[in-house]
Amino acid sequence: MADRPPTTSPSEDAVRGALLGVIDPELGDNVVDLGMLRTVALGGDGSVDVTLALTTAGCPLRAQLMKDVRLRVGSVPGVTDVRVHFGEMTADQKKKLMERARWKARENAPDTDIPATTRVVAIASGKGGVGKSSVTANLAVQLARRGLTVGVLDADIGGFSIPRMLGIDGRKVEAEDRKMIPLEEPVGAGLLKVLSMGSIEGTAEDEAVMLRGFMLNRAVQHFLEDVRWGELDYLLIDMPPGTSDIQMGLARMLPRTEMLIVTTPAHAAQKVAARAADMARKGYLRVAGVIENMSAFTCEHGETYALFGEGGGQRLADQIGVPLLGSIPLDAAVAAGSDEGRPAALADQGLVTDAFAALAERIVTEAIPLVEMATCTARLFDAVEEALGPPVAVPAVDA
Ligand SMILES: Nc1ncnc2c1ncn2[C@@H]1O[C@H](COP(=O)(O)OP(=O)(O)OP(=O)(O)O)[C@@H](O)[C@H]1O
Ligand SMILES: [Mg+2]
Repeated sequence: MADRPPTTSPSEDAVRGALLGVIDPELGDNVVDLGMLRTVALGGDGSVDVTLALTTAGCPLRAQLMKDVRLRVGSVPGVTDVRVHFGEMTADQKKKLMERARWKARENAPDTDIPATTRVVAIASGKGGVGKSSVTANLAVQLARRGLTVGVLDADIGGFSIPRMLGIDGRKVEAEDRKMIPLEEPVGAGLLKVLSMGSIEGTAEDEAVMLRGFMLNRAVQHFLEDVRWGELDYLLIDMPPGTSDIQMGLARMLPRTEMLIVTTPAHAAQKVAARAADMARKGYLRVAGVIENMSAFTCEHGETYALFGEGGGQRLADQIGVPLLGSIPLDAAVAAGSDEGRPAALADQGLVTDAFAALAERIVTEAIPLVEMATCTARLFDAVEEALGPPVAVPAVDA
């Protein structure tokens, strides 16, 4: 944050936009719409003070919320420092919050069927062909090998490649109660749940799907809303190249999405990737890190060749003020694995497996850790539910 080049001062709108991505995992909605955001104060020096009202002062979700606010608001251009303050809700505010949460849970879950605790990660780049889909497929495999349930949403509607890469082309999704059921593929102790235009009846990889802007977004919206994802730890979204429409659509539909930017070590790719990061931030999406793909190639004699240059991933990471989370070597096994439908990271060992295992490790432990569930507002939620279900007497809400 602090070492980012100076930009214009952040606007209150941008900060509020970023806060739309901070979810109370128990109530399944963002802190702004839940009415938990009390004030946003901008200092002239790029510092921001955010005050949230909690349902109870000792809320165990406090640490998680604090972390998320700092990450989200900290990634708004121009923000140099984020201070988070907490207040406590009045009884009336709590009541409103619970009404909103109950409405959201019961009558109308307008946005998505994706669990509130799922970490949503879009894998993007400014430029085509840098390896977004390969990184998505191999990272998904490595996350699943850790025992996690990983959704893979192929948002490259017109140029999908995920089914082939994961070896599930030919299989088609089925629907139940007008909801699509993603294709499931066990990997190690975990599970992949995959959805791609290529798995919808009537589309094949070599048929160009000619959809533009609005239509593309409608398709992605379907993939978010009309799908029975079920339990998910991570949802990886493989973005199409040159993605402004879809990126903006995603920001609106799922503001909690985090972006990982893929670049190659080459200078030109890095410049385009920086624009992608910029776009992400304009949509108030947080960029969680950079992945360098097609890094140095190591030949069978152990010598290393930087065919596509060196250091592009780190330079980009420094430029946008986020960590470089991993470097994936250029290796024929990646391309071969994609063609055979058996991602290279499924191999027991080797440079590619190691690189993706290390990347998965950093994502899970540091960059985009799983949401730590703790009970807090849920207790109140239960109390309200109980109170509403006649003929139960209204219990006192303990604050
Ligand atoms: N680390 C790597 N080593 C060797 N080949 C790679 C590597 N990463 C990707 N490739 C190859 O590069 C090509 C492009 O990769 P991929 O399709 O994943 O890129 P993409 O960014 O998703 O492309 P698009 O923008 O078209 O969606 C593929 O042939 C893939 O097999
Ligand atoms: Mg792709």
